[in-house]
Amino acid sequence: VTEVLSSDSLSVAMAADAKKLESMIDLLIATPPGPEARVFDAMRYGTLNGGKRLRPFLVLSGARLFNVPDAQALRVGAAVEMIHSYSLVHDDLPAMDDDDLRRGRPSCHIAFDDATAILAGDGLLTLAFEVLADPSTHPDAEIRCSLATAFSRAAGASGMVGGQMIDISPERAALDLDGIKHLQGMKTGALFTFACEAGAILGQAEAAARDALLGFAGDLGLAFQIVDDLLDAEGSAEDLGKPTGQDAALGKATFVGQLGLEGARAEASRIVDDACARLDIFGKKGSLLRATARFVLARRS
Ligand code: IPE
Ligand code: IPE
Ligand code: MG
Ligand code: MG
Ligand code: MG
Repeated sequence: VTEVLSSDSLSVAMAADAKKLESMIDLLIATPPGPEARVFDAMRYGTLNGGKRLRPFLVLSGARLFNVPDAQALRVGAAVEMIHSYSLVHDDLPAMDDDDLRRGRPSCHIAFDDATAILAGDGLLTLAFEVLADPSTHPDAEIRCSLATAFSRAAGASGMVGGQMIDISPERAALDLDGIKHLQGMKTGALFTFACEAGAILGQAEAAARDALLGFAGDLGLAFQIVDDLLDAEGSAEDLGKPTGQDAALGKATFVGQLGLEGARAEASRIVDDACARLDIFGKKGSLLRATARFVLARRS
C-alpha cells in the first residue's frame, strides 16, 4: 500500500489537532493566584508558543488506528508535548546551548530568567506524569502504569536526558555515523518512539501492530533528526524560529557532516520510504501517518 494523503489534507489535520492540543494544555496549566504564579506563566510560555506539535499528532494518529477516544489520546499528547517543551526550555539555557530564540520568540529564560526557566522545566516534567496518572487518561490503572513506564524510559537518562548528556560530552565531536545515530536515537528518537507507542498501549494493540508502529517511529525519529541537521546547515532562522548554523559553530559531528548535504537528504528519503513500508499492515488506515513521514522529509521549519 503506497497511498499517501495530499500534503494539504495533512496540514488541515495537523492544524485541527494542534488546536485541540493547545486547548488541552491551556486547561491543564492554569495559573493560580500567589507568587508561584510566575512558574505557571513560564510553563505556559514554554508550551503555548507555536511549535509544530508533531509528537502529539503522532500520539493522536497512532491512537486512532486502534479506535482510542481522542479525549484520552489528547491527554497523552499534552504530556508528551510538556516534556518535549521542557527539554527545549532547558536546552536553550546558558549552561546548555545558550540560545535566545525559540519558536520565533525569546527563549523562556530570556522572557523570564534562568532560575524561572529551570523551575518551569521541572514543573512541566512533573505535570506530564500527573496527567498520565489521572484516571481520565485511561480507566485501567495498569494501562496508565504501562504508559508511565514507557514514557519515563523514553524521557529519562536512558533516553532523551542521556542523549542530551552525550550531546554536550567531550566525546561528542568525534562520533562516527553509528555514534551519531545512537546519540540521536536517544536524544530525539526515544520521544518519537513513545509518541507512536502510546496509541498502541492505550488501544491494547496486538504485538504485530505495536511492533510495526515502533519500527515506523524509529525510522521517523532518525529521518527527523537528519532533516534537523540539514535545516541547521541550510535553513533560515526566520523559517525555523531558532538560530541556525549552531552545529557547525560548535564543531558537532552531524549527519550532514558525515554524508554531505545531498547524501544526508538521500539517506533521509530512503529512511522515510522504509518508515512508510512499515505501515503496510494498517492498509489505508495508515495513510495519515505515511503523509506525516513525507512531511518530516519536506518540512522547512
Ligand atoms: C526540535 O524539535 C528539537 C529536536 C528534537 C530537533 P521540533 O522541531 O519538533 O520543535 P518544535 O516543537 O516544532 O518547536
Ligand atoms: C535538543 O536538541 C533536543 C532536545 C532537547 C532533546 P537540539 O539542541 O539539536 O535542538 P534545537 O536545534 O535547539 O531545537
Ligand atoms: Mg542541544
Ligand atoms: Mg539546542
Ligand atoms: Mg538541532
